[in-house]
Amino acid sequence: MKNSHRVAALIPAAGSGTRLGESIPKAFVDIDGVTLLELSAAAARSSGVVDRLVVIVPAELESRAAQLVPDADVVVGGAERSDSVRAGLAAAADADLILVHDAARALTPPTLFAEVVDALSAGHPAVVPGIPVADTLKHVDADGTVLDTPDRAPLRAVQTPQGFDAALLRRAHAGGGDATDDAGLVEAMGVPVRVIAGDHLAFKITTPFDLTTARLLQEARR
Ligand code: C5P
Repeated sequence: MKNSHRVAALIPAAGSGTRLGESIPKAFVDIDGVTLLELSAAAARSSGVVDRLVVIVPAELESRAAQLVPDADVVVGGAERSDSVRAGLAAAADADLILVHDAARALTPPTLFAEVVDALSAGHPAVVPGIPVADTLKHVDADGTVLDTPDRAPLRAVQTPQGFDAALLRRAHAGGGDATDDAGLVEAMGVPVRVIAGDHLAFKITTPFDLTTARLLQEARR
């Protein structure tokens, strides 16, 4: 059921994606003819909880993005992910709740968007999906020598969509800081961030292995 808030989904897609090794920016790489950007926008749209889509892209791909996602507002991103999110925030002035979703998490189930919005509507100001960590993690120094081994039980690998009360996210970004995710900026303000169950399909397509995995998963779905 549609909640009473006005929800904007910002989709940062302005990264170059050098780790993927493709000649075009990552969000414009396709899986069987459909770009990661289109897949991510479709997931947000079909969740049924998003009122407005804002996609943030490299300047040279602005008109291409407008063709691919005609129902979205398209804005030009910045040098770092946080700069791109700030560009998106400026274009979503009327939202009560904001979801930030990496274009690179192209196979994210639409239900995850709805679950994040549910948790926001229940009163949590900041909500992120996360999954337990399967590998043992090591903290290492610059030479690769292990410093310590944190207990993995309380650790979560966090994903997107990350959801926020819009005014809170604007305050978090007002200082112009940089973080690998938006929740990091909110945490720095001392505001509690709630982790809900994530989904393995929300993995970030970063490396050629991830892209192959995504292509195989899509093939298996069909
Ligand atoms: O680089 P990373 O994989 O962490 O990027 C996560 C998401 O943020 C991607 O969808 C990417 O396109 C986007 N991004 C952006 N602007 C940047 C860097 C990354 O919109 N300057």
